[in-house]
Amino acid sequence: MPDAALDLAPLDSILDEFRGQKGAVIPILQRTQETYGYLPAEALAAISKKAGIPLSRLYGVATFYAQFRLTRRGRHLIKVCDGTACHVRGATKIVEGIEDALNVPPGGSDPDYKYSLEIVYCLGSCGLAPIAVVDEKVYGQTNAENLIERLKELD
Ligand code: FES
Repeated sequence: MPDAALDLAPLDSILDEFRGQKGAVIPILQRTQETYGYLPAEALAAISKKAGIPLSRLYGVATFYAQFRLTRRGRHLIKVCDGTACHVRGATKIVEGIEDALNVPPGGSDPDYKYSLEIVYCLGSCGLAPIAVVDEKVYGQTNAENLIERLKELD
């Protein structure tokens, strides 16, 4: 993770935009996440220092809302369902296949941050089990081989 080289300059314009606005923590964090793809610890420390917002408050908000991420995510988010219906129809093989073929551990990212893999529990489409969602695209009745082929085609 290139945290050492993190460019903190974009934070100045974000903080300028919300200067003097009390309670702007959420939009500040949203803009920061849009800029970096997640909320890097260095960025939160800089926001705290520059805007005078206690770091504990920034982390409190960042961890309360599901929209915020404190770790870097790959360019493509793969969600594999391992709810009951998907599990009995082979979700484990899909997860293991992705991990082996693309070097993406469940709950993590590959070293190049091309993919991140999340395990979810029931996407509400059990009739399509096993199911995976890549970015916004749904792959129903899929298998490791097909899904990995589709994933490799992504930029
Ligand atoms: S268990 Fe996978 S969609 Fe319901």
